[in-house]
Amino acid sequence: MPRNWHTPLSLILSALVLPLCASAANSFENTAIVRTVELGGALVHVTTTYAVKALEDGSSVYTLALGEQEHAHTSWLEAKLKGQAEVLPLEDFGYHPDSGVFLYTVELPKALNTNGTANLVVETVQTHATFPWPQEAAQKDPQSLKYNAELFVISPYKTLVQRTKIRAPTTTVHSYTEPEDVAFTTDAVVTKAGATITYGPFHDIPASASQDFVDTKQKQVTVHYTYDHPVIEVKKLERAVEISHWGANLNVDNTMVFYNAGPRLKGHFSRLEYQTQNYFGRGAAHMLPGINLILPAGIHSAYYYDLVGNVSTSHLRTAPSVPKGPNSNAYSLLELRPRYPVMGGWNYSFTLGWDSPLQDYAGYDKSTGKHIVGVPLMTVIPTAVVDEAEITLILPEGATDIEYFTPYPALSERISNHITYLDTIGRPKITLKYKELTDKHTGNIYVTYKVPFRAHLQKPLAVAMAFLGVFAIALTWRRVDTRIRRK
Ligand SMILES: *[C@@H]1O[C@H](CO)[C@@H](O)[C@H](O)[C@H]1NC(C)=O
Ligand SMILES: *[C@@H]1O[C@H](CO)[C@@H](O)[C@H](O)[C@H]1NC(C)=O
Ligand SMILES: *[C@@H]1O[C@H](CO)[C@@H](O)[C@H](O)[C@H]1NC(C)=O
Repeated sequence: MPRNWHTPLSLILSALVLPLCASAANSFENTAIVRTVELGGALVHVTTTYAVKALEDGSSVYTLALGEQEHAHTSWLEAKLKGQAEVLPLEDFGYHPDSGVFLYTVELPKALNTNGTANLVVETVQTHATFPWPQEAAQKDPQSLKYNAELFVISPYKTLVQRTKIRAPTTTVHSYTEPEDVAFTTDAVVTKAGATITYGPFHDIPASASQDFVDTKQKQVTVHYTYDHPVIEVKKLERAVEISHWGANLNVDNTMVFYNAGPRLKGHFSRLEYQTQNYFGRGAAHMLPGINLILPAGIHSAYYYDLVGNVSTSHLRTAPSVPKGPNSNAYSLLELRPRYPVMGGWNYSFTLGWDSPLQDYAGYDKSTGKHIVGVPLMTVIPTAVVDEAEITLILPEGATDIEYFTPYPALSERISNHITYLDTIGRPKITLKYKELTDKHTGNIYVTYKVPFRAHLQKPLAVAMAFLGVFAIALTWRRVDTRIRRK
């Protein structure tokens, strides 16, 4: 994320955080910080547990700090108390120029008195945090990745003890950094057991959310490991959801550019070798033969085409439609098989769409006279990051009093007018833009709106007019003698 991407608002907020930080820095101490990094491909899941102790009465706002590098890779962040499901309110204060870090505050459900303790669990998802090494691989070579991170978890508070565990997906770890001249420890800085590399314990670390700490104490560590699955990036997702009351239909259309971010294929792709590899069940990890997607229950008329045309190699198992109920676990399963395996460094663009009964997603509130429709923000693509997403919701013609609620704030949003065939006044269209969506970005977009009775008639009326028009032309046509006369 660019460093100077301040809006005036975030500038005001970072000015506000100054006094807040100064007092907050005195109000807690970390008795322990344990970070666990689960290495993956496009996504790396990180869990950090802060055992905190209040140093003054009424301490309820805990400040989290992310270094610039960590912040640039962090696409999702959530804080909870250990063992509890409730997500704690989080405020993003953006970049804090004086300390060179990004700050967030977490509000504890109950203020702590002096010596009161809490266990705060912060989960993040990092994207683009790994890269293939070597950068090129032949078709039958294995795939390995490197992951870079900072050694110390930084915090505006003093920390008594801290360790970081990095877990590789297999025990094949080619190498890991053994940093030298590390402060806060007298023992071995790093140990490895099986697939887990542990840095620390480090003792008595002073408040570290500062440029000075980063410059003098922070270290870089790199882990080089084998990864046996394709590294999938969706460079671009355009998702259009069209609500039609007339046909009682909800159409979802996704256009995607898949990119295999594994090592670039060295030499040519050999289909013969590919088939042999598959026959012996030894497909290389950096080949992406396809992906399984979970789609909603009750979908029909699914389509899947790429630049060449319809792709028939996929398999869709649909579950029957269920009346919308939050507890329904029914789903359809699509085994998406591109025309050819997507090799490292290759793109594959395609469009995938389907129709659903509108009543599976929509409700009507008699008291307000408004329709309410809830649709998933996106179709989760397991293990993939979606670099850029443009999500549009196209509402029925003539819809008014539009309000919408997104599960995550969009980078940009607007309402415009969308005019298609047989529309008279056009349909309101909501456009939302996101970056770096992950498998954690689930949740629904909710939209509420009114459709005046007049607007309900607009479509049949437009069709009738179009029909009458054709009819009139046909009538006239019959009267005009178009035969070529012979003299
Ligand atoms: C907090 O704990 C410290 C050390 O255990 C103790 O000296 C102090 O009196 C305690 N403060 C309160 C208010 O309980
Ligand atoms: C693709 O499939 C759809 C129906 O699923 C069909 O209407 C369309 O004609 C097909 N297009 C091509 C190029 O085969
Ligand atoms: C893949 O797509 C991305 C974005 O659409 C583009 O920047 C890149 O050049 C493409 N790569 C190849 C090898 O076509």
